[in-house]
Amino acid sequence: MDGTNDFNAGKTALITGASRGLGYELCRLLAEDGYNLILIARDRERLRRAADEFEKAYGVAVKTMVKDLSLPEASREIYETLKQESVQVDILVNNAGFGMFGRFVNSDPAGVRALLEVNITALTLLTRLFLKDMISRRRGRIMNVASLGAYQAGPFMATYYASKAYVLSFTESLGNELAGTGVTVTAFCPGRTRTEFDKTAGVKKLKWLDDCMMDAGKAAQIGYKALMKGKRIVISGWQNRLIAYVSRLLPRKLVNFVVMRMPEKMT
Ligand SMILES: NC(=O)c1ccc[n+]([C@@H]2O[C@H](COP(=O)([O-])OP(=O)(O)OC[C@H]3O[C@@H](n4cnc5c(N)ncnc54)[C@H](OP(=O)(O)O)[C@@H]3O)[C@@H](O)[C@H]2O)c1
Repeated sequence: MDGTNDFNAGKTALITGASRGLGYELCRLLAEDGYNLILIARDRERLRRAADEFEKAYGVAVKTMVKDLSLPEASREIYETLKQESVQVDILVNNAGFGMFGRFVNSDPAGVRALLEVNITALTLLTRLFLKDMISRRRGRIMNVASLGAYQAGPFMATYYASKAYVLSFTESLGNELAGTGVTVTAFCPGRTRTEFDKTAGVKKLKWLDDCMMDAGKAAQIGYKALMKGKRIVISGWQNRLIAYVSRLLPRKLVNFVVMRMPEKMT
């Protein structure tokens, strides 16, 4: 772990998947508001560059922790390291996640395991570990990054869509349990957003798909506002809210039929 500035001054946010994309943009918004940052991802060089940038631009303290969240001990190691250093986490942003495109039957079992570990297990365990301290302080905010995909089944990305349905359901349930504790949990459901997500997932870059994507900075802003207000669920943009709404009203068979047509245009 790097970082030399003072974490005792001010409040601190921990962000997973902080090296790029939505996580990086959420870090920027938190730093702008004066939060010290703990940045977590695997890419050491990108984390270091982001830390330098946030320290210089906003004068906040930044630590980087190079962690692979697909490893079973990662969440506990993060929590224990910060406990040992007496760093208090006021905001937890469980943002790290990735997708895998293709027929499930052909998927790499190790990749499937990693996806479930990062998208589901690490998010759940980090929430569990930091939540107890937040409740005892009667203060804290958690954001779990789900997806618009949480509202539909997603053929050819079955594990990813299912993992995001878990994140949405888990967060909504937990939010109800937390009423009156002073701690809030927000499920952030972005629609398609311009990041490196498609490249990592193996989705072909297509102009028509790119044109309907939201800018990562804009999407992050929507999520950030909801996090700070303690909203239970937020979907980025009115078009995406409409898609989620319609998906719940239409027969599942019809929604599946429409979603099934999308991947054909991506391959
Ligand atoms: N972009 C979209 O259209 C979209 C839509 C809905 C939801 N989302 C969700 O938004 C979140 C952020 O994704 P993004 O769009 O910003 O994609 P991205 O640009 O690919 O960023 C993903 C982040 O997750 C980190 N990460 C991936 N695997 C990890 C691992 N094993 N251990 C630790 N960190 C890991 C990556 O860092 P390293 O590679 O350095 O580890 C990176 O910082 C994800 O949960 C994604 O599912 C994205």
